[in-house]
Amino acid sequence: MFARIDHIGVAVDDLDAAIALHETTYGMALVHREVMEEQGVEAVLLDVGENHVELLRPLADDTPVGKFLASRGPGLHHVAYQVADIEAALTALRSADVGLIDETPRTGIRSSRVAFVHPKSAGGVLTEIV
Ligand code: CO
Repeated sequence: MFARIDHIGVAVDDLDAAIALHETTYGMALVHREVMEEQGVEAVLLDVGENHVELLRPLADDTPVGKFLASRGPGLHHVAYQVADIEAALTALRSADVGLIDETPRTGIRSSRVAFVHPKSAGGVLTEIV
């Protein structure tokens, strides 16, 4: 079902410091920066070969990433897999009794179509399909 890892999402409290680590120290190219009001984050994408790292800074404490930071601190937040057909993937996951946070795709970073799988159905890993 999954073609490849699209990106890993990392929750950060200091976006500039996280960008400096990835861009300057790791040598990754920053290719996109976006405020996504609906998701409550400012996010950037950095290239790692054909994959990406997505850094997520919450816009407020009462957002999903803000709550994540408060309870778990900065760190790995989710893994995103690319699929060829997101509707077909959601149908297949639903028929396999996998719990979905998003029953239908929503708009993700760079106008992608995304949906999240519940971590309780995914071995504790918040899983995004793109
Ligand atoms: Co993501």
